[in-house]
Amino acid sequence: MKAVEIKKDIYWVGAVDWAVRDFHGYETPRGTTYNNYLIMDDEITLIDTVKYDFAEYTIKNISGVVDPARIKNVIINHIENDHVTSLDRIMDLAPNATIYISEKGKKGLDRFFDLSRWNMKTVKTGDTITIGKRTLEFLETPMLHWPDSMVTYAREDKVLFSQDAFGQHIASAARFDDEFEISESVAKLEDSVIDYYANILMPFGQMIKNKIAEIQTKGLEIDMIAPDHGLIWRKDPGKVLNMYLDMANGKARESVAIIYDTMWQSTEKMAVPIAEGIRAEGLDCRVIKLRATPTSVAIKEFWKCRGTLIGSPTLNNILYPSVAEFLTHIRGLRPKNRIIGAFGSFGWGGGAVKEAYDVFKSMGLQTVEPGIQIAYRPSPTDEEACFEFGRNFARQVSEYHKGF
Ligand SMILES: Cc1cc2nc3c(=O)[nH]c(=O)nc-3n(C[C@H](O)[C@H](O)[C@H](O)COP(=O)(O)O)c2cc1C
Ligand SMILES: [Fe+2]
Ligand SMILES: [Fe+2]
Repeated sequence: MKAVEIKKDIYWVGAVDWAVRDFHGYETPRGTTYNNYLIMDDEITLIDTVKYDFAEYTIKNISGVVDPARIKNVIINHIENDHVTSLDRIMDLAPNATIYISEKGKKGLDRFFDLSRWNMKTVKTGDTITIGKRTLEFLETPMLHWPDSMVTYAREDKVLFSQDAFGQHIASAARFDDEFEISESVAKLEDSVIDYYANILMPFGQMIKNKIAEIQTKGLEIDMIAPDHGLIWRKDPGKVLNMYLDMANGKARESVAIIYDTMWQSTEKMAVPIAEGIRAEGLDCRVIKLRATPTSVAIKEFWKCRGTLIGSPTLNNILYPSVAEFLTHIRGLRPKNRIIGAFGSFGWGGGAVKEAYDVFKSMGLQTVEPGIQIAYRPSPTDEEACFEFGRNFARQVSEYHKGF
């Protein structure tokens, strides 16, 4: 990839990571990109860097536009490893550049690099720098998604450099939303936005609403959103803003995800009539076996659906480990506005379904009780009971969905 001009004199100079499938434990079946941006003005300004093993790529891309030694300002919007770990390589080439960063960012960056050798300036919400024809304005976005996160707004160009917000883990030759929609599809792009939100931003819905409101109150017009991963929103930046607002406001489909695991397929045998019962009520239903599915995909599907049924056999009196692991992820993501229930096969004392409900309650989720448990293999009568369980759950989901 070469540098790509995204607006007059503003270049994408990042790297495409086609091969990554495990991104800090989050599966990325579509790979990702590390986006950073070079603004050619009187003071040449670089926004963010890339992951350390991609340093060569960004240096090459920058060098295709300008000698990196001429960079005057480096803005660090957040200090996560995938965006700062080639900062030292850039600073070796532009040692007199000034780094602009939030106060918290500076404290954290100190853990990565010896900062005493660099010019550092801390900035806060409302601060601006003039780099020639352009004014760049900073807006802190603490906990979205790191404590030091901020975004940078290029006033004259109306471009929001949004760090991870509004990004997607997609590796592609396309750089822009409209290009990707033609080469791949709108649905894939939307799915990747939901994936990112569900796996990273789910806990921060209220903050997202507040920040978007702050952007609107400030009257920042946004012509383009340039995130740190995936496609740049040039055709319709409002679309991704609305998707975020919708998700933060609890938008979900009136549908059900059945997320389960199984040792000897009895819990799996229960999932089939349960799914049929859900369908019989007219709701869409997707069935996901945990050990056959990347966790990030299961989390995404959980998030898309208003209702979820968790299926687990009992192993040594408790939940099956892959199910417990999934629930641990969900617990940390603190979902809201979802309804949930549980089912499973057991042999003697049982315990998995009860433990699942304990977890649901600790999360404050709306539950449908009781769940359904079957000893060993489900009989035809048990399958009938599972079908009815599915029907009833679907009805409860529809009822609950009316509140949104
Ligand atoms: C290693 C192992 C440990 C088990 N521990 C328990 C247990 O503590 N309590 C219980 O009720 N059943 C226990 N079971 C029985 C399973 O819950 C039972 O076989 C169930 O039908 C398995 O469902 P599945 O076919 O969906 O895996 C255990 C089974 C295995 C293989
Ligand atoms: Fe990040
Ligand atoms: Fe990132």
